[in-house]
Amino acid sequence: MTRDMILGLEVVLPDGSVISALNRMIKNNAGYDLKHLFIGSEGTLGVITRLVLRLFPKPACTFAALCALPSYEAVVGLLSAARRGLGPMLSAFEVMWPDYWEVVAGMPGVRVPLPAGHAAYCLVEAQGTDETFDAPRFQAWLEAQAEAGLLADAVVSRSLADVTTFWGVRDACSEFPQVLGPHEPFDIGLPVAAMDAYVRACKAALEARLPGAFALFYGHIGDGNLHIVAGLRGAVPQPKDVIQEVVYGLVREFGGTVSAEHGIGLTKKPWLGHVRSDAEIALMRRLKTLMDPAGVLNPGKVV
Ligand code: LAC
Ligand code: ZN
Repeated sequence: MTRDMILGLEVVLPDGSVISALNRMIKNNAGYDLKHLFIGSEGTLGVITRLVLRLFPKPACTFAALCALPSYEAVVGLLSAARRGLGPMLSAFEVMWPDYWEVVAGMPGVRVPLPAGHAAYCLVEAQGTDETFDAPRFQAWLEAQAEAGLLADAVVSRSLADVTTFWGVRDACSEFPQVLGPHEPFDIGLPVAAMDAYVRACKAALEARLPGAFALFYGHIGDGNLHIVAGLRGAVPQPKDVIQEVVYGLVREFGGTVSAEHGIGLTKKPWLGHVRSDAEIALMRRLKTLMDPAGVLNPGKVV
């Protein structure tokens, strides 16, 4: 998502030459758009030294609702209703599956304002330009979704403190290393419509390969980005290879990606071929060799 916020950049290539591409235009189709070669390349092609960021007016107000939904179909319906009804005000659409909710509800210091037992949970955030108009608009939008049968239950923020509390439920995952013990974390991308079928297939396959395994699912579903934490309770070391085989095997089957936001590095390098063709990887390698023939930048990473 950061990629969309970058208009231009300056980058130092491995041979020391400086490419100044500090574009300030929104539209610029004069030749190849070189910045995209460097954004997300994990420092393997050049060192970015300056950026031109696209700026937007600071939002004047923020609202959020935590929603319980009766099904994943309702989640997809709510996302589409949010895009239609809130338009550019929609600033986050985070989904948490029930296992995630149950674990977080048991964590000390996390206030969970909705009961467990629903099919899905969603944090919808919107940012507006005028509190007087936008607060009732957000409230009315939420009520319309309840009337349309998309919500089983919901709480709406009355203050920024409420917004922070709601985000606390979603951000509680940062404590998972302490709460869950050893596990494998994932950052995958999938078409939004396929997400729940993936989750069900993944849970079933993990249970079949590793009886007693746990798997929690949550993520930035508005961006098609799913996080998974999966493991076998108490197992040290974790059966990492089996867990990765299941998660990434199904990612390939469902037409997803093995990295939505955190990159490839060394850890995911063996899985790149699951979601990129041989021709794509060969071209990536040719670019790397062309731009960094001595392999001095972040050697061994990505491709
Ligand atoms: C998150 C980080 C881990 O979404 O990407 O919580
Ligand atoms: Zn994330």
